[in-house]
Amino acid sequence: MITVKTEQEIDLMREPCAIVRDTLTYIGTKIRAGVTTAELDKLAHDYIKSRGAEPSCLGYCGYPASICASVNEQVVHGIPGDRVIREGDIVSIDLCAYKNGFHGDGARTFAVGEVSDEKKKLIRVTEECFFKAIENLRAGTPLYDIGASVQKHAEENGFSVVRALVGHGIGREMHEDPSVPNFGKRGTGIRLKAGMVICIEPMINAGSWQVDFLDDGWTVETHDRKPSAHYENTVVIREDGVEILTL
Ligand code: MF3
Ligand code: CO
Repeated sequence: MITVKTEQEIDLMREPCAIVRDTLTYIGTKIRAGVTTAELDKLAHDYIKSRGAEPSCLGYCGYPASICASVNEQVVHGIPGDRVIREGDIVSIDLCAYKNGFHGDGARTFAVGEVSDEKKKLIRVTEECFFKAIENLRAGTPLYDIGASVQKHAEENGFSVVRALVGHGIGREMHEDPSVPNFGKRGTGIRLKAGMVICIEPMINAGSWQVDFLDDGWTVETHDRKPSAHYENTVVIREDGVEILTL
């Protein structure tokens, strides 16, 4: 069931979403060669708590950390740990915060020092995919137009779209209907309504779209071990466009 939020509910979502945005910005200032992903997790956890929110990921289906930190060939859901971040890595940070009875969700991919031209382009194109997706998005837009826009931009740039993971609705639950794929056929799917709140989150691979799910139960890696990037915001569908809550 897809929930349509009232203006009052959307107002309640502003705070967890702003906390997601600020945590991502803060973690971006802390990512550098030599730090471990566990250290970033601790910083994010403490920051989210200091803002009076709960890190939604911690304990979600048994997930053991407050953020997902996915390095290079890791697509999403990398579990923070002893891995030391190195110059030339790209690190995707994905996190959710819960406050006022609602969740916010966002992700960014950061370059560590000087990274390859391919990785630079991958980060840029992944962000652009999000902005292409929202360009003409408003009440009445068919749901799969989002994926069609993401897929077109990714593939035009020689990259590929992860199929096995999708964006989602969000609200009182971290994952609500509808599923929001990053691929699809323009003009198809349900028509979005004003007041729906969704997470649009392109996951773009430098090589092929195939991914593997690792034995740790969480980490998703590219099958060809080429790099992958992730960019996500929580957005409200409006009559005349969208409102981005995590920017
Ligand atoms: N933003 C991520 C998602 O939508 C949140 C994952 S939290 C985890 O999948 F607990 F599932 F890792
Ligand atoms: Co999400």
